[in-house]
Amino acid sequence: MAKDSQKNGPRHVAIIMDGNGRWAQMRGRPRLFGHHAGAKRVREIVESCPELGVKYLTIFAFSTENWKRTQTEVAGLMKLFKRYIQREARDLFEAGVRVRFIGDRVKLADDLVDLMDHLELLTEKNDKCHLTVAINYGGRDEVTRAAKRLAYEVEQGRLSYKDVDAETLAKFLDTHVLPDPDLVIRTSGEARISNFLLWQSAYAEYEFVDTLWPDFTRAEFARVVGNFSGRDRRFGAVREADVN
Ligand code: IPE
Ligand code: IPE
Ligand code: MG
Repeated sequence: MAKDSQKNGPRHVAIIMDGNGRWAQMRGRPRLFGHHAGAKRVREIVESCPELGVKYLTIFAFSTENWKRTQTEVAGLMKLFKRYIQREARDLFEAGVRVRFIGDRVKLADDLVDLMDHLELLTEKNDKCHLTVAINYGGRDEVTRAAKRLAYEVEQGRLSYKDVDAETLAKFLDTHVLPDPDLVIRTSGEARISNFLLWQSAYAEYEFVDTLWPDFTRAEFARVVGNFSGRDRRFGAVREADVN
C-alpha cells in the first residue's frame, strides 16, 4: 500500500540523465568514464521507484542528435548499452522490473537490438516497476514515424483521414502502452527538453536540478519526487475553489 505522502505522487517519472561528460572532465578523465559512472547510478534510482510509488520510470540514454558526437564516444556508448543489458538483465528480471525500449531501432546494431528484444521478452510478465529506456530516441522523430505509419494505414484503406485525432495518433507512438509522464527531471543544470517526450509531456511538471547525473542519489530523487505532491496541476482548467 502506498503511504499517504505517495497518494499524490507522480506515477510516471521521466529523467533526462545529463552531465556525464562534465562529471568526467572535472576529474580530468575521458567522457566515457562519466558515462560508465552514470550507468551505475541507474540501478539505485530504479530500485527506489517502488518505495516512492513510482510505477513507471523512463530514462533518456541516447538521443537522435547524439550521433553528432565523436565516433569514439558513440561507439563507447553503444558498447556500454550492450554490456549494461547483459550485466543487469537477470537482476532486473528478479526485481520484477518490466523493461521496454523506445526510439528508432533501425540505426542500431543488430546485436544491440537482439539484446534489447531479449530483455523485453524476458521481463514482459513483470509488473512491479516499468522501466523504459530511450535509445536513439527523439520526440520529433517519434511523431514523424507515427505520422508515417498512420498515413500508410490511410493509404491502405484501413483507416479514414476523418478518424485521425490525438488519441489515434498516440496509438502509433513508441510509448503507446505507457501513461504520460507526470514529472520530468533533468540533471546538470540545463533547463531544456532536448527533444525528449515532446508529445507525452504536454502537461508534465518539470524539475531541473544542478546535480550532474553520476552524482544524482536515491535521496535526491526522493526529494524531487516529494516536491511533486505540492504542485497544483490544473490541465488548463480553473480549480473549483478559484471560480468567481
Ligand atoms: C548525458 O551526458 C548522457 C548522454 C547524452 C549520452 P552528457 O554526455 O550529455 O554530459 P554533458 O552534458 O556533456 O556533461
Ligand atoms: C540529452 O542530453 C540527451 C540525453 C540525456 C540522452 P544532451 O546533452 O544530448 O542534450 P543537449 O545537447 O545539451 O541539448
Ligand atoms: Mg549533455
